[in-house]
Amino acid sequence: MDVLVAYGTTGGGTAEIAQWIAEELRDAGLRVHLTPIREVGDVAIYDAVVLGSSLYAYGWHLDARRFVQRFAGRFTDRPVWLFSSGPLDRSADEGPLDPVPHAAAALRDLPAREHVTFGGRMTSEAHGWLGHLARLMAREGHAGDFRNPERVRGWARGVAADILARRREREEPL
Ligand SMILES: Cc1cc2nc3c(=O)[nH]c(=O)nc-3n(C[C@H](O)[C@H](O)[C@H](O)COP(=O)(O)O)c2cc1C
Repeated sequence: MDVLVAYGTTGGGTAEIAQWIAEELRDAGLRVHLTPIREVGDVAIYDAVVLGSSLYAYGWHLDARRFVQRFAGRFTDRPVWLFSSGPLDRSADEGPLDPVPHAAAALRDLPAREHVTFGGRMTSEAHGWLGHLARLMAREGHAGDFRNPERVRGWARGVAADILARRREREEPL
């Protein structure tokens, strides 16, 4: 089973979340293609997809939005899972958060099975415009790493179990 784990990131925090997910899927025996979204060629070879985006101004990363436009309707027969990474507090771990409108559109248009929000990370070491904003936000107390590797990895193990169950169903027709 070939699984695409693709991510849209500006500061690298979402890339690392995607890496944790990829590690869990690989540990479950799946063949994982971990890549920034903008390097995705075609999606025909994948049996399942995990698509993740960072959140900026209540929206998805441009690369993730483009993926949805480009591949809308291509996943009616293959499962897709979505995640967003953003909140700079513990809210993402306290209960399910509504998907931002771009994620809701992706759920509908790809379509995808599920969307989950994970906490984000903001460090003042970031470069360029992001670093500038990050330092401003840090001054107001909105900095830190609110990602929760154990929660991410637990979610990824659930995704792996679903993919493997789906394969078993296909191999053992009634
Ligand atoms: C200018 C700016 C706007 C942001 N807007 C949001 C937002 O609307 N919702 C949210 O949950 N997080 C928001 N964040 C937090 C980021 O999503 C978080 O830092 C995330 O981990 C960034 O991921 P990346 O490192 O992969 O780019 C914002 C951060 C910045 C710097």
